[in-house]
Amino acid sequence: MKDFSGKTAFITGGGSGAGLGQAKVFAEAGCNVVIADIRQDHLDEAKAYFRDKKIDVHTIKLDITDRKAYAAAADEVEKRFGGPPQLLFNTAGVNIFGPVEASTFEDFDWVIGVDLFGVINGMVTFVPRMIKAGKPTHIVTVASWGGLMGQSGCAPYSAAKAAVINLMDSYYTNLKQYGIGVSVVCPTGIISNISESTYTRPKQFENSGYNLTDQTIDFMRYHYSFGIEPVELAKIIKQGIEDEILFIIPMKESEKMLRANFERIIDLSTKEGKKRQDELEKKRREERANNPPVNVKGGREAGWGSARPDLKWVKPR
Ligand code: NAI
Repeated sequence: MKDFSGKTAFITGGGSGAGLGQAKVFAEAGCNVVIADIRQDHLDEAKAYFRDKKIDVHTIKLDITDRKAYAAAADEVEKRFGGPPQLLFNTAGVNIFGPVEASTFEDFDWVIGVDLFGVINGMVTFVPRMIKAGKPTHIVTVASWGGLMGQSGCAPYSAAKAAVINLMDSYYTNLKQYGIGVSVVCPTGIISNISESTYTRPKQFENSGYNLTDQTIDFMRYHYSFGIEPVELAKIIKQGIEDEILFIIPMKESEKMLRANFERIIDLSTKEGKKRQDELEKKRREERANNPPVNVKGGREAGWGSARPDLKWVKPR
């Protein structure tokens, strides 16, 4: 897809961070932008931003884990814009940090519910409608670099993102025949509000094995402040759509990083390779230990999440 003007762009999580960046870039490119988000304050802020720019965006309060509400949102879009979106951005996501061995069912259910099933809900809701509409269409899902290798400090997230990457790869192959393009984005860091994820954690999933404190949230915000700026990321995504790229990996050293990832997989499948990886891991641990704590109260330990204090059997990191 090269011409975006007049196309409807449906953006989940469009009220903040990466999704808001997409809303800005694709509104600028002439799309009718629909922002779907669970947070009313994010929707209001986005609406106000675009109102100041004299751009009309359509907002929908939506929890992407709610299938009925998702179908209603799709109906609303079809009614308002005369058909399903020709651009779907599965961008909404949440994250939380803590040692994998401390994770509860609720930690998995919540994060995988949003980050994997939220995307599945978007695909199952929209793809049949898109195929029936028969127009040039492109679907973008924001996964993460964290989905390309196991992340022991945010395992539910890493597992969900890995699944999302393979899911989009599968759709990519089959949707080609319908003229529907698919991209999956794997960034490392984005300047965003993802540190506030826990604000939208539903009550039924409140039992967490992690020790989430204000310090953790501060640390996450600090950490993510080194990420890519959302509008810059959205411009890279736009180019990726134009070039019909499946894996959008927006880092300068992406090729080197990917090769290191795959070398790790190859290494960890042999005895010799395992020794090499153990050495590398040891080196990384030493480097981390020698790194002075970051300038946030509580330092790294607070940041990357510790276990809930009553889980005495979890070793400190
Ligand atoms: P953000 O928190 O700024 O934006 C996410 C938006 O999604 C928020 O407005 C939030 O209210 C909304 N949301 C959360 N749960 C929802 C639900 N159940 N239904 C509907 N909306 C919901 O965070 P960010 O970083 O912009 O996140 C966007 C995507 O980027 C996520 O999928 C995240 O996993 C991914 N990502 C983020 C990275 C980062 O460093 N921030 C790195 C790699 C990927």
